[in-house]
Amino acid sequence: MAIIETNTAIIKEAMEFIYICYSELGKTEEETAQRFSQIQTEVSETGAYTHTLEELEHGARMAWRNNNRCIGRLFWNTLTVFDERQQQTSEGAFEALLRHIGFATNGGKIRPAITVFPPSHNGQDAMRIWNHQLIRYAGYEKDGKVVGDSTSIEFTEACEKLGWRGAGTHYDVLPIVIQVAGEEPRFFDLPEELVLEVELDHPEIPAFADLKARWYAVPIISEMKLEIGGVSYTMAPFNGWYMGTEIGARNLADEERYNLLPAVAELMGLNRDSNRSLWKDKALVELNIAVLDSFHRAGVTIVDHHTASKQFKSFERKEETAGRKLTGNWAWLIPPLSPATTHIFHKPYKNDIVKPNFFYQNSAIK
Ligand code: ARG
Repeated sequence: MAIIETNTAIIKEAMEFIYICYSELGKTEEETAQRFSQIQTEVSETGAYTHTLEELEHGARMAWRNNNRCIGRLFWNTLTVFDERQQQTSEGAFEALLRHIGFATNGGKIRPAITVFPPSHNGQDAMRIWNHQLIRYAGYEKDGKVVGDSTSIEFTEACEKLGWRGAGTHYDVLPIVIQVAGEEPRFFDLPEELVLEVELDHPEIPAFADLKARWYAVPIISEMKLEIGGVSYTMAPFNGWYMGTEIGARNLADEERYNLLPAVAELMGLNRDSNRSLWKDKALVELNIAVLDSFHRAGVTIVDHHTASKQFKSFERKEETAGRKLTGNWAWLIPPLSPATTHIFHKPYKNDIVKPNFFYQNSAIK
């Protein structure tokens, strides 16, 4: 795109963002107009503009509020925003990520947070994280069999090419890979004591512990880009806390992931010969109880899907009161366990994309 067209596009996005953001922040019309004209000048002179800390903070919160796939949006306004736009090195960025993990984990009382690194300029990334999530288990494929998390196979191979070696268990925490523009990617191992994990057992089925299943406490998505007012933050990892079904009905249950249902059914003594026994469903419920109960007893924040749906209902009401149109992606909002027991299942949602928002972007892995 020609420079003038690009600048016009940025200014248009900036205008849409600034007017909404400033009105939500209770700024005067004069302040808003002044800030917008400042942005216009900055963009026409430099081809970009820099958000104030207040704009970055509120913009990131709006992005969460607008994310149609997220059932946890009631809490959008509690997001803590760490401004790390000054970072230029992978070491510095890694230190900032360690601070994020420590803050978010908070001994188990999980706090939603985002760390924002330098935005892209003229479509060029300043820095990228290769990981899908900051904390994630490795996946190894050996003669058609997978050890660990199958969703990590490609990234795990990339880490091995960089010289990393995992122990080869089902639950090896992957290193963080950071690439600064124009440099080789670098990997950093996470200090073990920083990564909170929960070993799973079941309140009524002692044999459950024999599965030696576990999951990490904090999901920190690190591959998406945060877009605010025409500015693309291509490195902006963010976290909330888990909803139990993400782990119990998907990560550990999907046939293509940890595929634990047959083993759970086995230790429950269920008849796996007939679909009509609903052994999968029974095992699924107990696996989800194990996840919720284990996290709870370990003092790690987690929400069950019934409570999360109730919270989403409050969010829907609050958005209506605020005079904002609710958007949502039904297929993502319904929980994978007992969806029709939640109100979400029984109504349609408009999947319109409103910005600021989080978007998928081209993979950083080379
Ligand atoms: N579903 C993903 C996982 O199981 C995490 C996505 C974000 N989840 C969240 N509760 N913020 O790892």
